Amino acid sequence: MALHGKRIVVGLGGGIAAFKAVALVRELMRRGAEVRVVMTDAATRFVGPVTFAGLTGKPPVTNLWAEDYAGEVHVELGEWAEAMVVAPATMNLMARAATGQANDALLATLACARGVLFFAPAMHARMWSHPATQANAQTLLDRGAVLVGPVSGALANGEIGEGRMSEPEDIADAVESHLSYGDDLAGARILITAGPTHEDLDPVRFLGNRSSGRMGYAIAQKALRRGADVTLVSGPVHLPAPAGADVVSVRSAREMHDAVMARFESHDVVIMAAAVADYRPSARESHKIKKSDDLALELVRNPDILADVGAKRTDTPSVLVGFALETQDLEQSARGKLERKRADLIVANEASAGLGRETNRVTLVDGDGATALPEMSKTAVADQILDRIRALLSTRPRRPRNEAKQGPPN
Ligand code: C5P
Repeated sequence: MALHGKRIVVGLGGGIAAFKAVALVRELMRRGAEVRVVMTDAATRFVGPVTFAGLTGKPPVTNLWAEDYAGEVHVELGEWAEAMVVAPATMNLMARAATGQANDALLATLACARGVLFFAPAMHARMWSHPATQANAQTLLDRGAVLVGPVSGALANGEIGEGRMSEPEDIADAVESHLSYGDDLAGARILITAGPTHEDLDPVRFLGNRSSGRMGYAIAQKALRRGADVTLVSGPVHLPAPAGADVVSVRSAREMHDAVMARFESHDVVIMAAAVADYRPSARESHKIKKSDDLALELVRNPDILADVGAKRTDTPSVLVGFALETQDLEQSARGKLERKRADLIVANEASAGLGRETNRVTLVDGDGATALPEMSKTAVADQILDRIRALLSTRPRRPRNEAKQGPPN
């Protein structure tokens, strides 16, 4: 019973897929979880609260104003739950969650939740692809929530499209795989670089690249959730800082280089997920360059941060991880990088598979060989990378904890 003793709140929105939440509650309980149910008013029109009272032995919470809730049930449940699963997550519910509304029992409980939040979207394909829903889904993801589905298939009205709620078993699988990690990286000090770098030409122009920073931020979020101490050295991105990370904001490759070189020795693991610019303009003009005829840019090489850490490290970091974005000869180039930069693991991906996207398809290359993973969300890739790092860490001596993590003096 993989979910034995886990405390899970299932929150139902008002969609036709609410009938599948009955099976979800059963499935979570079958796997050993203790389940409490919260329903929006609309959800109670699709399935009766009595059904859940019968299944879980406790009446579901449906109304913040009911006298026996004493006004604090959302706080208690939010505190109690190790995970909260919103299924079905309707378009409206996702919008309300993304904008921080708390005007019913379900939203108030979500607002108080301390555990991991899962959303299983269920709606018509046009509602799912609506830019508002996509933006709300992204906001929830950026805050660390996990989206399960939706999947393609027959929708309630018989049309085929993407918007169907994932099957209860698949939702339970996602919850199980998430909760089963626990604190397996507790005590590990992990430095992660993320995002692009911007190399200034003049006060208003720069050279950059299309990196969104999502891969590095996903690793930071997952490492935090698995108990690690995380330092995130981030280039310019449009992502919220993961709660609990020590974030160092930088702009150029040289700034990132300085930030990493000052800190790498106080970390057990360094993961270079940033898309560092290899070149920068040879000079930064102090005034905006005036438009005239053709302009030739002279570029000079930036320092290779990963290679520098590889060359200078002695005891720490015990595990050094680089990324390799390639358009051809993926595995061979990654292996070359592993050796040249003295890294322990290279996460290789084809440029078309990950850059600026939600998902990634990567190959993990280390001293023992190469493992090609299927396409999956960047958060799932993050867990795979961390699994491999944990395995590498377990083979090396770790510096004692009392040599505290420290950055440079301010
Ligand atoms: O050699 P290449 O740029 O493909 O190597 C990619 C890896 O090296 C990534 O982990 C990236 O973060 C790192 N890198 C770096 N400094 C650079 C360029 C890349 O640390 N100037």
